Amino acid sequence: MRFEHPATFNPIDQLKVIGHPTSRIEGPLKTTGTAPYAYERHDVVANQAYGCVVGSAIGKGRIAAIDLEAAKAAPGVLAIVTAENAGKLGKGERNAAPLLGGPEIAHYHQAVAIAVASTFEQARAAVQLIRIDYAKGDSKFDLAAVLDTAGTPNPSFGGPADTDIGDFATAFAVAPVQLDATYTTPDQGHAMMEPHASIAAWDGDKLTVWTSNQMIAWGVEDLAKTLGIPKENVRLISPYIGGGFGGKLFLRADVLLAALGARAAGRPVKVALQRPLMFNNTTHRPATIQRIRIGAERDGKITAIGHESWSGNVIGGEPEMAVSQTRLLYAGANRMTATRLAALDLPEGNAMRAPGEASGMMALEIAVDELADKLGIDPVALRITNDTQVDPEHPERHFSQRQLVQCLNEGAARFGWNKRNPKPGQVRDGRWLIGMGVAAAFRNNLVTKSAARVRLDQQGRVTVETDMTDIGTGSYTIIAQTAAEMMGVPLEKVVVRLGDSDFPVSCGSGGQWGGNNSTAGVYAACVKLREAIAQKLGINSEEAVFADGVVRTGNRNVPLAQAAGGGDLVAEDAIEYGDLAKTYQQSTFGAHFVEVGVDADTAEIRVRRMLAVCAAGRILNPKAARSQVIGAMTMGVGAALMEDLVVDKRHGLFITHDLAAYEVPVHADIPHQDMVFLDETDPMSSPMKAKGVAELGICGVAAAVANAVYNATGVRVREYPITLDKLLAQMPEPV
Ligand code: MOS
Repeated sequence: MRFEHPATFNPIDQLKVIGHPTSRIEGPLKTTGTAPYAYERHDVVANQAYGCVVGSAIGKGRIAAIDLEAAKAAPGVLAIVTAENAGKLGKGERNAAPLLGGPEIAHYHQAVAIAVASTFEQARAAVQLIRIDYAKGDSKFDLAAVLDTAGTPNPSFGGPADTDIGDFATAFAVAPVQLDATYTTPDQGHAMMEPHASIAAWDGDKLTVWTSNQMIAWGVEDLAKTLGIPKENVRLISPYIGGGFGGKLFLRADVLLAALGARAAGRPVKVALQRPLMFNNTTHRPATIQRIRIGAERDGKITAIGHESWSGNVIGGEPEMAVSQTRLLYAGANRMTATRLAALDLPEGNAMRAPGEASGMMALEIAVDELADKLGIDPVALRITNDTQVDPEHPERHFSQRQLVQCLNEGAARFGWNKRNPKPGQVRDGRWLIGMGVAAAFRNNLVTKSAARVRLDQQGRVTVETDMTDIGTGSYTIIAQTAAEMMGVPLEKVVVRLGDSDFPVSCGSGGQWGGNNSTAGVYAACVKLREAIAQKLGINSEEAVFADGVVRTGNRNVPLAQAAGGGDLVAEDAIEYGDLAKTYQQSTFGAHFVEVGVDADTAEIRVRRMLAVCAAGRILNPKAARSQVIGAMTMGVGAALMEDLVVDKRHGLFITHDLAAYEVPVHADIPHQDMVFLDETDPMSSPMKAKGVAELGICGVAAAVANAVYNATGVRVREYPITLDKLLAQMPEPV
């Protein structure tokens, strides 16, 4: 089905099942430990052996010599695979650095070997006996030190590197009020609960991998390419995923090494990346240095806005597109954005929840707060003054829906924003200095092809199959809701099967595109199934009503179970998009409000209250969507106050490479969180009229925290994370 005109009324709009706060249909499996995750699939194939991965002990250079003799002779060892004996390997389209390193080493903890043994303990013992001599090469590990080597990249997503509209330099120079400030965001890790894990089994030249991956079709393609085998010979199965955040978008070393280990050992092999390996072996969100300049009239109207961002990556890696939102969020006739990329020998940087905007909003939304302060204008009012209903770089393009102003107003009213003292450092509650902060939320809505297959059986059950994944987001549930709504059956009559490359190719889980696109694909397949049923019954599908498990036309009622006739009825289709996404700018909006307390003596920061108001199209399942947003708000607090992959600039590794040193918020760090969805349906997004929401929730949170800390203390921290050492020296004198 091609979606090229704004959506009109369709069966989804009945909202009998869609739009209801439905609990996760796979929830009982997860809470009882019976949803099998990749490493736990002990029963899928017999005779599983264990692999243990060795990561490079240097950040850049070569393997000078490698001695496997002692390891090979160790008890239980079945095989040891290195680049030397793995045979010729290609490289996945979406991998910058090779997943199996050697002799060249591209980054610290790049996989260099796997030991396969009968037990995990034997495999782990064997890797201790592998002797590797390294020769360190010239290396660059410090982003700030290589800024002058940064070039203009050619990004494969997130728009062009640079944009230039009007005359920024002149407009900024003559603006009566100017802000010019530089912000930094650190490298961050996905730190999902389930590690990257795979079980690989060969049957002749056919390979099956049970794994944990967000994008099944990408994984198949890149695994086939890396192994040099046809992709028809590769099957990936990933029905349950214990978190991804972008860290499982791409083929990673666990998959490849399990496949190589299994081939060498002649047995199925299972591999989980050890937690300390995950931070340097897999991808991370790259650090940025961002300079923002804004010129404004005294009434707050922005006349010039410029945003430059620097990040680093391995050769072939992408830049962090931190300037993306600045192209769209605020009005202003003169504007420039610039993206620069430096070669760094740290582990590979790539997408993490809301790549681009998450980092960009951390900087931009402090800058707007600083401008408000200079102007003496309320930061909510300043944002409203600079609202735009058109893409400011291409004014002929309107936003399909844009309720930023409504989000700000609704949030301000609910949060009690009018009680905020605009003068910093004035409000106390015992030993705590109290402050409130606000930030806009912004994240683009991406539309992308997604297919599904639906089957009606003689019990009147509807089974949906698609390679869509559920990374904890609620895909199973919203897909079941979609099929139930379309076919007029209760939720209990729908079976959803996900995460298998034998199923039709979906949009996958990434970039907050999963919810809208995967359900739109199911919608398309259900339209076809309705037509097939109507044809079978000799009725007009346009006039048939599917409700209460019955197909109704005129005064004829046929139970769906009968409509299937002698066998199952199967329909498959995909949603594909025309030009609507080009004609209209599709984005999601919100507003974040945060109250913090800062200890007047120790500068300890406690978040006291949080509120998010989001406008993101139709909310398919308010319960699941709320969970996504409060999770994202929590992650935003982590970004503001804790998360930091600290770079060891001598050895080129992230030294905070475990869950003790890489701090994320725990329950005790998070206060009462409130969140509200504005009523919105977006007829330009898909027949579902929905948009993404899971990444919107993180965008802007960290800046709202930073702005609240400023309001509490008068100390402006521009380097994340905001740890108390950055506040202490400048804290107001105790009263
Ligand atoms: Mo998201 S960073 O595209 O999983």
